[in-house]
Amino acid sequence: MKLRLIFFMLLVFSFTSHLKSDEIFLKGKEIFLNAGNCASCHTLKDAGSVANIGPNLNEIKPAAGRVKNSVINGIGVMPSALGILTDEEIDAVSHYVSVSSNY
Ligand code: HEC
Repeated sequence: MKLRLIFFMLLVFSFTSHLKSDEIFLKGKEIFLNAGNCASCHTLKDAGSVANIGPNLNEIKPAAGRVKNSVINGIGVMPSALGILTDEEIDAVSHYVSVSSNY
């Protein structure tokens, strides 16, 4: 009986943590296309964007930390998104870019 309960809790936990990461992914995609304006400068297949002012994200396949760094600090002509996106939004878009470009 106890074992069943533990299995059930593990099942619920793995299901909800999966849902949570999907939510962050979708939120990040939304930011990539809208508030973050990333799609107007970058190509990313998952987002359907084809701009080439910045590097093609499917080619550089950046890790989340690298995305976050460039979004916070800006790089070259890419403006910093500080003050435009919240910390949470920057984390979400970084997660989205790293996961979707590394398929
Ligand atoms: C105005 C155009 C523009 C916008 C908007 C823009 N970028 Fe960029 N991005 C660039 C350019 C140009 C570079 C290359 C900069 C360089 O290397 O000098 C770049 C570089 C990058 C890099 C690579 C950084 C590295 O370490 O080489 C990543 C990742 C990135 N952008 C993600 C994003 C994300 C995510 C967003 C949205 C929050 C975004 N960019 C918005 C133009 C833009």
